[in-house]
Amino acid sequence: MTDDLLRYRSQFPILERTTYLISNSLGAMPRGVYDAMKNYADTWATRGVRAWEERWWTLAAEVGDQIGVLMNAPRGSVSTHQNVTTIQAIVASCFDFSGKRNKVVYTDMNFPSVMYFWEAQRANGARVHMVKTDDGITVPTERLLDAIDEETLLVPVSHVIFRSAYINDAKAIIDKAHKIGAYVVLDTFQSLGTVPVDVQELNADFLCGGVLKWLCGGPGVGYLYVRPDLGKKLEPRITGWIAHQNPFGFEIGPIRYADPPYRFMNGTPHVPSLEAAGPGLKIIQEVGIDRIREKSKHQTARLIALAEQQGWRVNTPRDPEKRGGTVSIDLPDSQVVCTELIKREILVDWRPKAGVRMSPHFYNTDEELDIAIATIEEILRERAVVTK
Ligand SMILES: Cc1ncc(COP(=O)(O)O)c(C=O)c1O
Repeated sequence: MTDDLLRYRSQFPILERTTYLISNSLGAMPRGVYDAMKNYADTWATRGVRAWEERWWTLAAEVGDQIGVLMNAPRGSVSTHQNVTTIQAIVASCFDFSGKRNKVVYTDMNFPSVMYFWEAQRANGARVHMVKTDDGITVPTERLLDAIDEETLLVPVSHVIFRSAYINDAKAIIDKAHKIGAYVVLDTFQSLGTVPVDVQELNADFLCGGVLKWLCGGPGVGYLYVRPDLGKKLEPRITGWIAHQNPFGFEIGPIRYADPPYRFMNGTPHVPSLEAAGPGLKIIQEVGIDRIREKSKHQTARLIALAEQQGWRVNTPRDPEKRGGTVSIDLPDSQVVCTELIKREILVDWRPKAGVRMSPHFYNTDEELDIAIATIEEILRERAVVTK
């Protein structure tokens, strides 16, 4: 089978030296980032403070629009921030937890940072309700939907679960929340870039994530989509001069909010990270999510089949429609095996209750998957000999 997407391999230097199966953690760096960083330094060195008006001032919004294209968001509805945790705080700061509607419903399969943030909001009056997984892989949708009641204000949930790659039923969650007057904060960190996401089809309220994994954009850029009708009226209390209608007026007193996306931003933007994000976003847009998804389904199925042939436990859904881009394989001494794989230039990671996570992206070959599985087999064989 010819794989047209493999022509992009040459744009990712690390693929020449490693078997790179860790795009769920840090996507491979596009070669174009060298130039982007050089241009950033040259601009700073030669244009100095003029760089703000010539390029830097509007970059956060421009990168937001670039990310927005991938989720069918209208222009101006995506702001950029340092990370998802900060984004949760910005969203929380738009709401009041002192009234009767102050319940926050989430699941124990959320990314821990998001969990820690909302748990800490108990001190601000939030009543936090955690829906627990039964099998460590999926989220019990019915129980989650039942927990969203008239007192629920916010539902921060992951679209794709970081441990198992299970795809939550985002549409059902959002529909239930809307029926009852609650809002969903959908974390698409592990979906955007590998699973289709359409904010308009979902009728999403808030949607967030970052560019460093499946979008190959490097650390330091998180994104926040706010539905335009909400964006016009919400007033984040985590705010600052960038969110002011007239930032250079340096007005005294309370803020007069700008329109989105600046309305949800606050202080000086993270320019180097925004510059580094550009090449990856451009490539992902060019390749297209549909082609990425098709290949991902094929390659994750291949990994699952190879792991099952070995009798290893797979902590990822078998149904491709319920599975994101990662396969979590639990095997004997999986943490030690992971360390050994990395020593042998096969880059993967290990997470408790998940096992070794392998995440092929559009730039991986099928052979790389075969090599990774064969190497695990080899490591286990060697360990068996040593421990005999
Ligand atoms: C689903 C999900 N949300 C959030 C994060 C990270 O959050 P933050 O951007 O705050 O570091 C990750 C992974 O790092 C993740 O997998």
